[in-house]
Parts: sequence; C-alpha cells; structure tokens
Amino acid sequence: MIKVERLSKHFNGVKAVDDISFEVKEHENLVLLGTSGCGKTTTLKMLNRLIEPTSGSITINNQNILDQKPEELRRGIGYVLQNNGLFPHYTVAENIAIVPQLLKWDSKRIEIRIAELIEKLHLSKDQLKLYPNELSGGQQQRVGLARALVADPPVLLMDEPFGALDNITRSKIQIEFKELDELKRKTIIMVTHDVQEAFELGDRICLMDKGKIVQIGTPAELLFNPANQFVADFLRDQRLQLEFKSVTVKDIWELLPSAKKEAAGQDLPIDSNIWAALQKLSADRSSNLYITYRHETKSIGFEQLTTTFYKYQSKRPHE
Ligand SMILES: Nc1ncnc2c1ncn2[C@@H]1O[C@H](COP(=O)(O)OP(=O)(O)O)[C@@H](O)[C@H]1O
Ligand SMILES: [Mg+2]
Repeated sequence: MIKVERLSKHFNGVKAVDDISFEVKEHENLVLLGTSGCGKTTTLKMLNRLIEPTSGSITINNQNILDQKPEELRRGIGYVLQNNGLFPHYTVAENIAIVPQLLKWDSKRIEIRIAELIEKLHLSKDQLKLYPNELSGGQQQRVGLARALVADPPVLLMDEPFGALDNITRSKIQIEFKELDELKRKTIIMVTHDVQEAFELGDRICLMDKGKIVQIGTPAELLFNPANQFVADFLRDQRLQLEFKSVTVKDIWELLPSAKKEAAGQDLPIDSNIWAALQKLSADRSSNLYITYRHETKSIGFEQLTTTFYKYQSKRPHE
C-alpha cells in the first residue's frame, strides 16, 4: 500500500535519510526503530509532506504523493506527533474537532464521532471541556490518538506515541492499542527508539542507523537471523524478553499437551505472545490459561509455558 523508493533527505549536506526503500502492506504495522538522530522523524514527515525529499519517491495506493496536494494527501493520513502536539489553548474537544471542521462536517456529526472515540479510548465526557495541561500524560496521548483517528483515515503515522509516558502507563496503553478495533483496519507506520515497544507492536521492524536501513523484517527475523553485528548488538541487552515477545502461543501450539477444561481460568487469544501470557500467569503462579485453536482447547500454567518455550527454542534452526 505504501512504497518508499530510494528516499533521501539532506539538510545542508547532512544525510538525515540516506537512500532508503521499503514497502508497507495494507493493515500492517511497520515500526521504524533506531537511536535518536537516525532519521526516523524525517522519514515519517516525508510521508505526509511536512518535509519534501531531496530525492526518491513515495507512492500510497499507487499514487505518487508529490502529484497530490498536501492538504488532500493529509486527509487520508492521521498523524500523531512526538510529545502529542496538542494545541495548549484549545480544549480537548476543540483539539479533536480540528480535522472534521476543516472537512466541514456539521456539528452534530462531529459531536457523535467524538463521543464514539472518547468511549473507545477510555476518556470521559467531562474531560472534553478541559485543556491539555489539565490531563495526565496518558490521557493527553489518548487525545492525540483521537485527533488522528477522528476522520477515519486509512493510514496512521505515529511519532514516538508513547515516548513521554512512565513505564506502567505505557504498557497499559500499548495493550489497549493492540486491542483497538479501529487500529486493526489501518496501515500504520510508527516510530520508536524503544526496542521492547517495537517488538510488542510491530508486525515488522525497520531498524535504522545514520539515515540508512540496517535490517527490515519480523521481530523474530531480526532476533534469530540478524543481518549483521549491529543488529545483534542492538538487541543484545534485552534479548530474553525480546525472545518471549517474538514467539506467539500459536508458534508453540503443537508442543503444548492437550487438556480438558477443568478449573476456571482466563482465556488467552492464540496470537498472544509468550511474554503477555507469562505476565498474566505470574500474578498467580498456580493459575492456568485456556487457549482454543481449531476447535481444540489446551491449558497452560507458568512452569509448563516456560518449559515448552525453551523446547521450541531448542528446535529452532540457527543460521
Ligand atoms: N530541519 C532540520 N535541519 C537540519 N537538520 C535536521 C533537521 N531535521 C532533522 N535534522 C537532522 O537530521 C538527523 C535526523 O533527525 P530525525 O529524523 O529527527 O531523527 P530521529 O527522529 O531518528 O531522532 C539528525 O542529525 C538531525 O539533527
Ligand atoms: Mg524523532
């Protein structure tokens, strides 16, 4: 759906983005990952023409974006700015209503859409009258997301959307983010410098360094088949947790023993990663999770899950 070809951006001779190419499929979530200054924000801004490229091309739905008026292009693209970028002198409702007003929606339609979004994003009606600085960081982030989603654009660009949040708020919002129906229908490019976040949220990860792409692939590909030493080093410190995040329950399904559903326990979706399952189980080590896949139900506990995971890892072919 999105195709970036040989894209570069130079600022006074500095190669902020240096000849990068990648594609994003419809409804995919691609994460641009890398340390500060590697060119992530510049890449994202070129996608909605906040920055014009020095060279290269970008097509969205087979249309070269340089052939479109920036205003028209941006109607199809929601943008969540770094540090949420809310207007401080606009209320929450006014911030969210900016795009619908540009599109000349009538006030009733705007009201209905805002009410729908604040419910989905767990904001309250009373907060609509408040100003951004009267909200917590997490709430501001939700408003930023609501503003980007309000006109239901097919493409969403997000620049460090959870960057300014404390760890607990961040994990909570990440979980909600993954479960939000509106987002499953979108093609998303998200920027982060946080490796864990990239592994948690990305279908594929594009690891960048000094304006170039070092490797692009699924979390498991980067982890188990790194293109070079840079990739391996980048992931080294947090390797164990990343391994848990890059493997899903579905991957280890065949290795899990079948069981009948006896005691009550929580159900776990088949596409959950091992890390998420372990977190649920760690609250009560004697509890079980139930997973149903292709008309079969299996039950797992904490010890069994870790054992099965290691069994799976030992069978994985190493390059
Ligand atoms: N408007 C600008 N003028 C000059 N240099 C810039 C400008 N914007 C970004 N840069 C430089 O380009 C490089 C990449 O920046 P950026 O894309 O913001 O990185 P990231 O988002 O990965 O932290 C940095 O070296 C930065 O200093
Ligand atoms: Mg940036």
